[in-house]
Amino acid sequence: MTRPDTTTKHATDVSAMFDEVSPKYDLLNDVLSAGNSRLWRIATTRAIAPRKGMRILDLAAGTGTSSAALAAHGAHVTAADFSEGMLAEGRRRNAGNDLIEFVWADATQLPFEDNSFDAATISYGLRNVSEPKQALTEMARVVKPGGRVVIAEFSRPSSEAVNWAYTKYNRHVLPRVAGIINRDAAEAYKYLNESIEEWPAQEELARWLREAGLERVAYRNLTLGIVALHRGFVPREKPVAEPEKAPPAPAPAAKDPDAGKPAAEKKPAAEKKPAAKKKPAAKKTTAAKKTTAAKKPAAAKPAAETAEKAEKPAAASKPKAAPKAKPASTSDSNKRGSE
Ligand SMILES: C[S@@+](CC[C@H](N)C(=O)[O-])C[C@H]1O[C@@H](n2cnc3c(N)ncnc32)[C@H](O)[C@@H]1O
Repeated sequence: MTRPDTTTKHATDVSAMFDEVSPKYDLLNDVLSAGNSRLWRIATTRAIAPRKGMRILDLAAGTGTSSAALAAHGAHVTAADFSEGMLAEGRRRNAGNDLIEFVWADATQLPFEDNSFDAATISYGLRNVSEPKQALTEMARVVKPGGRVVIAEFSRPSSEAVNWAYTKYNRHVLPRVAGIINRDAAEAYKYLNESIEEWPAQEELARWLREAGLERVAYRNLTLGIVALHRGFVPREKPVAEPEKAPPAPAPAAKDPDAGKPAAEKKPAAEKKPAAKKKPAAKKTTAAKKTTAAKKPAAAKPAAETAEKAEKPAAASKPKAAPKAKPASTSDSNKRGSE
């Protein structure tokens, strides 16, 4: 069994590990979370507020369990993942569901155009991505202005006692139980535990969301903070990527003071600035090439306009990305505003 290094989370190791656990992945989740994973999915689905006609990116979708919950509300779901094993299992389970399309994609380099989706979500996947901040930036890029990004991820229990018990469970019980269900999975679950221990707490992840350009960022703890549900919105005034500047026209030969000098003596021509970092619209990267079943999602219809009504951040301070956003307060004591 492949056990990725948690400091590098090398893509090939992580995808190979998920390939190997894919056949029993969902069963393991149910058992190891004592059924809580189902409740967490319900909360996540509510936070995304899927509706008929919406176009949603479910990133690191794995076998598509979260995608199916979104599609059940009539949304078109692009279930993207970079583990062929998980995708194959997902396609098998969801065969016949026309609302879900399984697509090979690397979260750090999405093969989708800007503003392609009404919403994007990632459940228990961000922690496994080698460059999670880059994945957040990519999610914000492909979601339309005003759309939401929702992240469900293991987090830090708020109480020390719960944290202590939870850590013991993850270190000692989880790999053993996983090993009973799937002999090869014990190593994978050791990695998963390490990755949970190294993952930032709620406030830090909220900061990452804001750094990715999301506004009205808030989170809510589930099961005492074992899982945290973060969400943010893409600003309605999305910053437009600077158009690539045309290279300066070459100076006329007659005006070149170094004309005629041997090359070595020439002053370097005005140092070429690297072109403004171009946003990867429909990248032709390995990700895109490898997308066998992957079609680019058609431009999404604006179905999600009112989705934001479903959640309101609490006690939020000023967001960086959109200073105008003024969140309302909420009575949910678990909900923390973090703008
Ligand atoms: C713990 S599973 C979660 C699957 C699913 N979201 C769920 O809730 O059951 C994590 C998934 O993240 C995927 N993953 C990790 N890094 C990824 C990346 N860089 N790009 C795409 N998928 C990635 C893995 O292949 C795996 O399927």
